[in-house]
Amino acid sequence: MPKIDKSPYLLLANIGELVTLRGANAARRGSALREIGVVEDAAVLCAGGKIVAAGPQAAVLGDPWLKENRRKVQELDCQRRVVLPGLIDCHTHPVFAEPRLVDFEKRIGGAGYEEIAAAGGGIRSSVAGVRSSSRDALSKKVLMALNAMLEQGTSVVEAKSGYGLTMEDEIKSLEAIRDAAQQWPGEVVPTLLAAHVVPQEYAGKADEYVKKVCDEMIPLVAKKKLAKYVDVFCDRGAFTQQQSERVLAAARENGFGTRAHVCQFTSAKLGPLLQHQPASFDHMDCVQPGDISLLAQGETVAVLLPGANYFLGHKEFPDARRLIDAGVPVALATDYNPGTSPTPSMPFVISLACTHMKMTPAEAIAASTINAACALRLQGRKGSLEAGKDADMAVFDVKDYREIAYWFAWDRCVEMVVAGQVCS
Ligand code: NIG
Ligand code: FE
Repeated sequence: MPKIDKSPYLLLANIGELVTLRGANAARRGSALREIGVVEDAAVLCAGGKIVAAGPQAAVLGDPWLKENRRKVQELDCQRRVVLPGLIDCHTHPVFAEPRLVDFEKRIGGAGYEEIAAAGGGIRSSVAGVRSSSRDALSKKVLMALNAMLEQGTSVVEAKSGYGLTMEDEIKSLEAIRDAAQQWPGEVVPTLLAAHVVPQEYAGKADEYVKKVCDEMIPLVAKKKLAKYVDVFCDRGAFTQQQSERVLAAARENGFGTRAHVCQFTSAKLGPLLQHQPASFDHMDCVQPGDISLLAQGETVAVLLPGANYFLGHKEFPDARRLIDAGVPVALATDYNPGTSPTPSMPFVISLACTHMKMTPAEAIAASTINAACALRLQGRKGSLEAGKDADMAVFDVKDYREIAYWFAWDRCVEMVVAGQVCS
């Protein structure tokens, strides 16, 4: 979806429901997660890529500058539809070459994720494809995914490397993300995930690989300014708690923000990992009850990824209710990747959150906007529709915001505005 208009002024008029998420630029917790600030009969005025006013149409149209300059302003008639902040997909793995169809059929036949990985499938089987692909070929795949995300309402995407697992191939993956991001109207937050699994050539030498990640890869990626965050997969079959701590410590020493895949299959001790001030802990399927109260006191966002549970055919989903009710800030993301969650669709994830994790539609939308912005520490600019924030909006062809969760696997996003520009 390229940008098609270059007017610096844009008015979104005739909005049936405007979901503003207005309020403090902080993660919503507990009952505040449902307060999404819906305004009926609304309009939004944008200038220079920012929101100037968002609220009741009568008030926005009464703006003295707008009255005088209406001719200069491009108008988008929203036809009484629902407008909300561009959705924020705060966890994706878009740099891969091929789908994993053999794994898919093995799982249908009854094999588990870890069993498939042990037999040579899983993350390691995507590594060969990335190593043998050119940067250009990978960037085309990333751009294709970003465009699919944009079409379904997403305007900010966190994108991880993690299927290269050599210095050269992780750099190539991050460069592919950067190349694709330059051709995409939204914002991409790049993350180094060299500590995704121990590559085959380091089998039995995990500590040696971790040393390479810490002493060589992280410093070079910092020097090249190719990533904002460093992530680590801390779980059985990936990296131990101690190895993960080493990776996060090296990340902080080199000026990166941190985040971690934790508690997907086995629980980790979150206290020691929290020392490294992670912006998010992702998956969180099996968190120790004691760690829930620890998280409720901090700023680290729990990013829940129900697309992975869905695609792996799990009966259990992350216990969103327990986390939310305890006061933990919760966000949602697709986890777009070839092994566990090949979907670009945040609306589908929102629907799963409601049907399988008992989040309300309002909670799921807040978790995909303002709280997802907090998971990327972008809440100063993204995640709500208020004067001064970036003019990123999704228009859904529905009358009531709850329909975004209701019509599952049905793309109802009809228009995207990114940085105050309408995308076709
Ligand atoms: O978030 N858990 C680790 N990483 C991915 C899976 C990646 C893969 O299987 O290729 C995830 O689910
Ligand atoms: Fe992931």
